[in-house]
Amino acid sequence: MAEPRSIVLTGASSGIGAALAVTLARPGRSLLLMGRDGGRLAGVAEAVRARGADAATAAVPVTDAAAMAETLARRDASHPVDLLIANAGVTSGRIPPDGPEPPGQARWIVTTNLIGMLNTVEPLLPAMLARRAGHIALVSSMAALRPQADEPSYSAAKAGVRAYGIALRAWLRGQGIAVTVICPGFVTSPMSARHVGPKPYEISAERAAAIIARGLARRRAEILFPWQLHLLVRLGNLLPPVLADRIERSLAARILPDPRAGRD
Ligand SMILES: NC(=O)c1ccc[n+]([C@@H]2O[C@H](COP(=O)([O-])OP(=O)(O)OC[C@H]3O[C@@H](n4cnc5c(N)ncnc54)[C@H](OP(=O)(O)O)[C@@H]3O)[C@@H](O)[C@H]2O)c1
Repeated sequence: MAEPRSIVLTGASSGIGAALAVTLARPGRSLLLMGRDGGRLAGVAEAVRARGADAATAAVPVTDAAAMAETLARRDASHPVDLLIANAGVTSGRIPPDGPEPPGQARWIVTTNLIGMLNTVEPLLPAMLARRAGHIALVSSMAALRPQADEPSYSAAKAGVRAYGIALRAWLRGQGIAVTVICPGFVTSPMSARHVGPKPYEISAERAAAIIARGLARRRAEILFPWQLHLLVRLGNLLPPVLADRIERSLAARILPDPRAGRD
């Protein structure tokens, strides 16, 4: 399988995305780093260039379908995209016992995490199909396999991302395009810093990026980590609901509100 030369990564300005950008950077590669915060994207681009890769940035909200389509089409015309990683995502809080998830916030989470993923993939799919080449990676979550009591809409959106990726992978089989679904457990990042509660088997963003990069190089169907949490999740899914619910409820965290919640 040829090495990807042109890579597009959303959510590249922070956390897992920023670490992954640096991990994937090497001479001969060209990365388009996307996010909302142009200043932080520029900092990541510097780190990518320091490792010998070429880097460009685009501050575009994934929720803006037209701007995403325009930016991605322009990029693909100059740098035909080999590897597209849809990583941008949000969480936000206020959950029982603090109160139910506010409806506006739940819709913002689903729009960003699920519709934003579609806005990232759809514009490049026809070009990849025409070339019969490419690799699409979608960042879901372990919450897709075991929906979380403290994050109902996040769990739903990430389950949607995973389901879309699995379906897309089967549909694209034999057409030269690989699809990888990535399901991280707890990873240290600004997002997980707002998760106040147990974070079993939490790993650093750098470690997560190394695991993801290795799985992507092998074009794995799914990258699920850390293995200890994956195992617990699989075992938990065998429990009767009454017991599983009790355990989920006792492990529920407080998710602190994202100051940007609902603003894009
Ligand atoms: N950390 C974990 O424990 C964990 C576990 C499982 C899955 N994940 C998933 O991994 C991905 C990265 O999470 P992270 O922990 O690295 O979080 P993070 O540090 O908060 O980074 C989130 C990234 O997504 C971008 N983003 C958010 N909303 C956006 C929007 N509307 N348009 C464009 N970009 C947007 C942010 O851009 P700006 O900062 O520029 O606004 C940022 O680059 C997410 O999909 C998350 O759900 C994380």
